[in-house]
Amino acid sequence: MPESRVPNPLAEGGFAALAAQPCTLVILGGSGDLSHRKLLPALYNLALDGVLPTSFTVVAFAIDDWDDGRYRAFARDGIEHFSRRALDEAHWADFERRLFYQKGSFDSPDDYARLKQRLEEIEPRFGIPGNRINYLAIPPRFIATCVEHLNAAGLVNPEGQGPFTRVIIEKPIGHDLASAREINATLAKVFDERQTFRIDHYLGKETVQNILVVRFGNSIFEPLWNQKYIDHVQITVAEEEGVGTRAGYYEHAGALRDMVQNHILQLLCVTAMEPPWSLAADVVRDHKLAVLHGLRTIAGRDVERFVVRGQYGPGFVRGQDVPGYRREEGVQSDSTTETYVAIKLFIDNWRWAGVPFYLRTGKRLPKRASEIAVQFKPVPEVLFNTSPGAPLEPNVLALRIQPDEGIAFKITTKRPGPKVRIWPVRMDFRYDTTYGDQTPEAYERLLLDVMAGDATLFMRRDAVEASWMWINNILDAWTSSGSRWLPEYGAGTWGPIEADRLIQSDGREWRTL
Ligand code: BG6
Repeated sequence: MPESRVPNPLAEGGFAALAAQPCTLVILGGSGDLSHRKLLPALYNLALDGVLPTSFTVVAFAIDDWDDGRYRAFARDGIEHFSRRALDEAHWADFERRLFYQKGSFDSPDDYARLKQRLEEIEPRFGIPGNRINYLAIPPRFIATCVEHLNAAGLVNPEGQGPFTRVIIEKPIGHDLASAREINATLAKVFDERQTFRIDHYLGKETVQNILVVRFGNSIFEPLWNQKYIDHVQITVAEEEGVGTRAGYYEHAGALRDMVQNHILQLLCVTAMEPPWSLAADVVRDHKLAVLHGLRTIAGRDVERFVVRGQYGPGFVRGQDVPGYRREEGVQSDSTTETYVAIKLFIDNWRWAGVPFYLRTGKRLPKRASEIAVQFKPVPEVLFNTSPGAPLEPNVLALRIQPDEGIAFKITTKRPGPKVRIWPVRMDFRYDTTYGDQTPEAYERLLLDVMAGDATLFMRRDAVEASWMWINNILDAWTSSGSRWLPEYGAGTWGPIEADRLIQSDGREWRTL
């Protein structure tokens, strides 16, 4: 290889190929659902893969009156129920001995002092040099308290001085622009942006990372990836589940805040960004941010034209009657929280000028199905496309995020036989057939990246605020309309009729998933 050639970092093991460093993961609020269902199972799978640092421990800090033994039982239960791979006794024994529990209250300075003491006792036993990751698995109202107390207790080293201290924070990062700014400012008082890792678990999904590889690892897509060749893009994140037990949070969030502000706009960024000139975290994140800056504002009266919201009513799912949203436990009987939202948007830049992006997400839709579909422009109306009543079906590249992860490309072919009969067929790549069915969970990748100090797949402060800025206009218009009515759709259907009209008025259709 000539010396001037840049090595291929993907071939060398990932976007960053950095190794996880020895550290302690301190989970504030570590006795909760997130640890049980996601974090502990993810860590266990990393242990099974042999990629956790050998010097690694978990110290959970929470209010429950537990000890290490109780915490280990809690972790075991979480792994037994939620791990993608079954618990194996030999690996469990090694994993379990690295789990510790420290009881403490988020607002007690003495408890943080005790936490520090405990960490200083545990770390030398495992050869950990004092590197720490603080995972804030806590309700947003505790963030300021926790961050201030961690700092006051001497549990935060400045970036670049001594062992590293990092912080992980989960969504929701605020409920509007002002509150997001407040949270970011609170974090910034204590942590440098380089120490701050904001999780959007969609970015940890294999299929989402694959979008970049498909776009920039093949020569055939990128020349077509623009307004000259693309008719429109559809991004769908459909969920079959209803609100479940999360009404307390969801009633104040709704689909726009819960899904669009973060996951769907991140998918949009990855789909629409310009090619970054390197895979360094900030280069990738600068390019994603540019997409958010290019979003055409939807505000005031335009909100009615470009955004549809809806709420599920009663319906029939998997052979069972299910209640409407307003009858779910913890939901107000006159709630106007949207459980569905569809948006038509434009990105005002050279590449995407005039190309509509249609986004939709909802709970209690007929199935769990998420994809990004890029529909190309029709071929000219000559040769095989001369029948105005039966135009050729367009080429569609569908990137399936979940389930049935893969990529499908619809192309036009000739059916065998003496006549020219045109038939659309699908070229289909499926992860499970090609790579086996063991796709890592998003949290596995993301936790490992924090241990390695790679922030590529995490949301930077400016991106979080830019997406809130765009979303806030829509929220403001909804608030000022004061409407107590929003379209209803039956549980188990594809959303309100108004969402169909949104796309049909442009002569297009939502894809059938
Ligand atoms: C979360 C939302 O961020 O993402 C939930 O708060 C939603 O409401 C979930 O159900 C969807 O994630 P996934 O990975 O199951 O598609």
